Amino acid sequence: MQIVEANGAKIPAVGLGTWLLNGSLGSRITEQALKLGYRHLDCALMYGNEREVGEGLHASGVKRADVFITTKVPHTELAPAALERAVKQSLASLRVSNVDLLLIHWPNPQIPLAETLGAMCKMKREGYTRHIGISNFTVPLIEEAVTLSSEPIVTNQIEWHPYLDESKVQAACRKHGIAVTAYCPIARGRAVGDETLTRIGRTYGKTAGQVSLRWLIQKGAIVIPRTSKIERLTENMSIFDFELSAQDMAEIDMLAKPAGRVVSVAWAPKWD
Ligand SMILES: NC(=O)c1ccc[n+]([C@@H]2O[C@H](COP(=O)([O-])OP(=O)(O)OC[C@H]3O[C@@H](n4cnc5c(N)ncnc54)[C@H](OP(=O)(O)O)[C@@H]3O)[C@@H](O)[C@H]2O)c1
Repeated sequence: MQIVEANGAKIPAVGLGTWLLNGSLGSRITEQALKLGYRHLDCALMYGNEREVGEGLHASGVKRADVFITTKVPHTELAPAALERAVKQSLASLRVSNVDLLLIHWPNPQIPLAETLGAMCKMKREGYTRHIGISNFTVPLIEEAVTLSSEPIVTNQIEWHPYLDESKVQAACRKHGIAVTAYCPIARGRAVGDETLTRIGRTYGKTAGQVSLRWLIQKGAIVIPRTSKIERLTENMSIFDFELSAQDMAEIDMLAKPAGRVVSVAWAPKWD
């Protein structure tokens, strides 16, 4: 597994997205993913399935220390006392004593970022998390977070796939040594039926989904694809035995559109 290093963190370049993997599906997919070689789980309190993900983790037989676990604090729980409660709830559900990475799930303009980051840094200092990071932060918010945080920010987790140009956010992150984690890396399945990605994939003996993931990896991103199908777990991880040419990369870059986002939520800040 390739590792992405960022501000002291070593993050496996492929992780398992766990949104919607609830109930027995969540524990089964988590367990299988770890047995197949995944070493990174992307969780969130908001997904309501950390108990099941924890069950899968403990059933897999893979040592806790060998798995990079990320969780996220919901945008409604960013005031310091609520944040601390949310983190403890995630740890109890996952049945772990700490996570590797704690993210602010979405920025919330109603709660001062300085207070939230103060609480995030406290969680790190007290050993509840090894690293801290942000998610869904725009360029101005990244700059603000870097200025306000006394601990290094290791990643900004954002929506990123071939239908979105995230070069400005990536440049802002790079300036501060922050890795970019790409969520919806196969555009919630849209990439799978894409003609361009399918054609390019054929030349390497790869699927359109693998081309989408590989394009992100070659841009330096960490990818966290989700699947509910055990047979697709290996497919989504098998992206390190081929390299897209510069011409293929450029052709995929052309797929980006202003309306390419697949996620939209009412509380999201305005994107650049
Ligand atoms: N920070 C945030 O605000 C945020 C927001 C959204 C997501 N996330 C994280 O990012 C993860 C990934 O994003 P996502 O789950 O929204 O979307 P995604 O991973 O881009 O796409 C998931 C969809 O693609 C399908 N799929 C996966 N692998 C496939 C393959 N090899 N062939 C064909 N179809 C395939 C899945 O269907 P099947 O189940 O049928 O395979 C599912 O419908 C989430 O699970 C979550 O952990 C974070």
